[in-house]
Amino acid sequence: MTELELIIDLHKNSERQGPGSENDTLKALWLMDLPSDQKLKIADIGCGSGGQTITLAQNLNGEITAVDLFPEFLDELNEKSQKYGLSSKIKTLEKSMDELSFNNEEFDIIWSEGAIYNIGFENGLKKWKDYLKVGGYIAVSEITWITNSRPKEVEEYWTNEYPEIDTASNKIKLLESNGYSLIGYFYLRPNCWIENYWEPMESRFETFLERNHHSELAYKVVNDNKTEINLYSKYKDYFSYGFYIARKN
Ligand SMILES: C[S@@+](CC[C@H](N)C(=O)[O-])C[C@H]1O[C@@H](n2cnc3c(N)ncnc32)[C@H](O)[C@@H]1O
Repeated sequence: MTELELIIDLHKNSERQGPGSENDTLKALWLMDLPSDQKLKIADIGCGSGGQTITLAQNLNGEITAVDLFPEFLDELNEKSQKYGLSSKIKTLEKSMDELSFNNEEFDIIWSEGAIYNIGFENGLKKWKDYLKVGGYIAVSEITWITNSRPKEVEEYWTNEYPEIDTASNKIKLLESNGYSLIGYFYLRPNCWIENYWEPMESRFETFLERNHHSELAYKVVNDNKTEINLYSKYKDYFSYGFYIARKN
C-alpha cells in the first residue's frame, strides 16, 4: 500500500477524520438565520465519513451534497445515512474540491469542516463563492493560531506543514476581502481534539499495524500522528481549528 492508502486505511471506520463535535457543528448552524419554511441546498465539501453530514441532515430541512475525493469515506457515509434513515437527504459525490462543477448560486450553505486546507483557505473561499447564493452562508473550520504569539517549535512545525496558518483576525480579513461578511467565529475546545479525534485514533493504532503487517510505512503513518498528538498536548493553548461562519455579499 502507498502512504496515502495507509492514511485512508487508518482513518476508515472512524466517526470523524478531523477534530470537531456535534455541538460545534450545531453551534455554527445556529449562527445562521435560516428560513424554516424553505428547503435548503447544502454542499458539505471534504465530508469524510460524514461526522458532521449526519448532524446537518438531522437538523436541516433540505438536501445535502456530500463531496469527498475518496470513495472509502463516501461508502461509510452512505451506510450511515441508511442506518439513520437519512438517505433521501444526503447524496454523495466523489470529486475533488478544486474541480467541482456545481451551478452558479446553486447552494444556500457551503459547509466544510477541517478540509478547505487541501486547496488553501483563500483559494477555497474564492473557488466556492460562485456556487453560493447571494446571502447564502459558508461555514468552514481551519487550523488557526488562537494567540498573537507562540513558541518557536510549534510556529515552525505548523508553518512548515501549512504556511497559510494564521490568526483568526487575519483569516477574517481574507473572508472580508473575498466578498463575505463574518457572522460568527469560535474555536474548537480540547474535547474536539482529544476525546473525539486523537483518543479514538490511538485505539486503532494496534489493529492498523497488524492489518498492515507492521510495515515500515505503516509505522511512519502512526508515528507522524503521534508527533501531532504530542504537539497538540504540549501547545494546545496556541492553536486549534477556528470555525468561521460568514455570509456571501
Ligand atoms: C481532515 S478530513 C475532515 C473530514 C470531515 N469533514 C471531518 O471533519 O471529519 C479532510 C477530508 O478532506 C478530504 N479531501 C482531501 N483532499 C480532497 C480533495 N481534493 N477534494 C475533496 N476532498 C478531499 C479527505 O478525504 C478527508 O475526508
